[in-house]
Amino acid sequence: MDYQKLIEEVYDEIQKENPRGKVATYIPELANVDPDQFGIALVDLKGNVFGVGDYQTAFSIQSVSKVHTLAMVFHVFKSKLWSRVNVEPSGNPFNSIAQLEFEKGIPRNPFINAGALVITDALYSKFERPTDQISDFINELSGRSCVRINQEVKESEKNHAERNTALAYFLKAHKNFDNKVEDVLDVYFAQCAIEMSCEDLAKSFSFLANDGYSIFAKREIVSESHARRINALMLTCGFYDESGEFAFRVGLPGKSGVGGGIAAVMPHKFSVAVWCPELNDKGNSVKSIKALELLTDKLKFSLF
Ligand code: DON
Repeated sequence: MDYQKLIEEVYDEIQKENPRGKVATYIPELANVDPDQFGIALVDLKGNVFGVGDYQTAFSIQSVSKVHTLAMVFHVFKSKLWSRVNVEPSGNPFNSIAQLEFEKGIPRNPFINAGALVITDALYSKFERPTDQISDFINELSGRSCVRINQEVKESEKNHAERNTALAYFLKAHKNFDNKVEDVLDVYFAQCAIEMSCEDLAKSFSFLANDGYSIFAKREIVSESHARRINALMLTCGFYDESGEFAFRVGLPGKSGVGGGIAAVMPHKFSVAVWCPELNDKGNSVKSIKALELLTDKLKFSLF
């Protein structure tokens, strides 16, 4: 399979069609990005990198980091984690508060904000330097020191943190949050403000296409069974209330972020990251979703 030709064809077709959305503005600093940037990077299991467009430009990975923190915490807590967070699609927006009340402080899954806050709280309890260790972990997965935390983006989110703060206090009211809210939020905003390129992001997801073993870190990151479970969660919950639509159109486990990035994997074949900042009304990148749909259409295979 000529992956370079494939992603170039996908890139050209999407650029010709040029579907548009709107950049995220609820974190004001994210609105300063050039909306015309678009890149695709695909990494096979031998470590070959195929890239097109702005695939080496660093961007705000936002919620894509929820997969990295889940992998760190899953490895430590194993199945005990699932007493604090569920594994069901939420069918609700990523920052929804309502469901958490009905379900007595147990978030639906680790990828909605409430669930990710529980994961970061668990991480905070076990790791001595949580923010540095998240960066170190992602650097290791990417095979080089690529992670930069954009302090302006972090501060911008901190200054508009009403919903995430409300979620954290609500979790605390239900005894599902062990540490100080401000401390955990500081780590959560730092992980969301990580900037890296499509190339590095695709490399950092490679272990999930490879039964838990990272060819870049040269070690097992999670067991084969944990890798399969993280992939199942990405397939069912990675795109919030658009997860069914993504599975239907693309058919790969993946995770989106409001910076416009999506990382996805085709188990036993490749990992891929796509980035374009303009989003649809569910907070997922319009061009990135279309690009991945075209990719699996042209490949004539997905998970299914
Ligand atoms: O907590 C937030 O709202 C953001 N830092 C991350 C949200 C996000 O990326 C949702 N993804 N589509």
